[in-house]
Amino acid sequence: MEIRKQVLPVSQPFSDHEEVEAVRQVLDSGWWGKGPKVEQFEKEFAAMVGAKYAIAVTSASAGQDLVFKALGMKDIDVISPTISFMTTAAVPLWNGCTSNIVDVDPVSLNIDPQDVKKSLTPKSKLVIAVNNAGVLAPIEEIRSFFDGFILEDCAHSCYTPGAGSKGDAAVWSFQAVKTMPTGDGGMITTNDTELYEKILPLTWFGISSTYSRTKSSGEANLSGRPGYSWDYEIDVLGYKAYMIDLTAAIGLSQMKKLPANLKWRRHIQSRYNAELHPSVQRPAHTETVQYYGARVPAKKRDMLISFLAEKLIHTSVHYKPLHLHPITRQSRKFPVADAEWLRLISLPCHSAMSEEDISYVVYWVNEFFNQSES
Ligand SMILES: Cc1ncc(COP(=O)(O)O)c(C=O)c1O
Repeated sequence: MEIRKQVLPVSQPFSDHEEVEAVRQVLDSGWWGKGPKVEQFEKEFAAMVGAKYAIAVTSASAGQDLVFKALGMKDIDVISPTISFMTTAAVPLWNGCTSNIVDVDPVSLNIDPQDVKKSLTPKSKLVIAVNNAGVLAPIEEIRSFFDGFILEDCAHSCYTPGAGSKGDAAVWSFQAVKTMPTGDGGMITTNDTELYEKILPLTWFGISSTYSRTKSSGEANLSGRPGYSWDYEIDVLGYKAYMIDLTAAIGLSQMKKLPANLKWRRHIQSRYNAELHPSVQRPAHTETVQYYGARVPAKKRDMLISFLAEKLIHTSVHYKPLHLHPITRQSRKFPVADAEWLRLISLPCHSAMSEEDISYVVYWVNEFFNQSES
């Protein structure tokens, strides 16, 4: 097969005139900050995932941080899986907590409940459960022996039915290569009214929405005077992490595209499952296919990555385990992650791919194994 002229990225967002129009409308409205689009996005997102409350923020990482701050989590032990992005280990450290990283299940690569049980300490008050690649984490099993707070990391599971419904709160990512990208952005969802009311003011230094304060016309406003209600009083130490209308407009547009986008990702998953060489171990089924994380023999993985790169196919590894980074190194053993991560390779999977692109990947992966086995 002829080598293509352009790189096929491993992940890529997709947009069309609808996002351009959505952003243009916000630009023309004269209100770019947090306003009606954010409110609409929060409402529609909460309805989609079946949560009582949704708070739009600048990223999933910022969202996780605000949950810690609202709960007052400091100097506690936080358990999270080693196959994950740095957020789940770093946010506990930002908050003066210990990052107690545990091993994963060999099939799903999700947090291993048995290892959580073994790793509990008297200071274990919070578990972060990541729905890895969109596969739901075993939260019910963890609940059967752990009565602390469970934060469900839904960065890869937007939207898998049931995602976000098992944890005490969930955090979602709209970062540029996620299934509902806005460039950067995130959402916190929860059914807990008290938690919602604590998080909300933290998104902007404890100040109530400027948008609602601009809405007064001739009548007396919140401060008892007509005009823009400029006065406010701050009684909590807050941060700056709210989403703005320009971002929310893209989110609302991407949300409409989500069903078709996910259908296409699942189509790529089923073609890879059906057509790839038998030496490629298929990943656990996922509804969102945030990553098609195949596994191949460890001694061939890096050769395959280079071989595909020569054919202009970019791949990745999700993830190098967190316990292997110097900043989050642990003293214990990780037999599953240590063996499995060396076999991981994420193949291109996104809505900008065509049938020909899928065939191209299948052809060159299979060619690699046919050549190396002959
Ligand atoms: C599992 C996981 N959690 C959290 C994040 C952080 O998301 P964000 O980039 O929106 O902060 C990511 C990003 O890739 C992720 O993969």
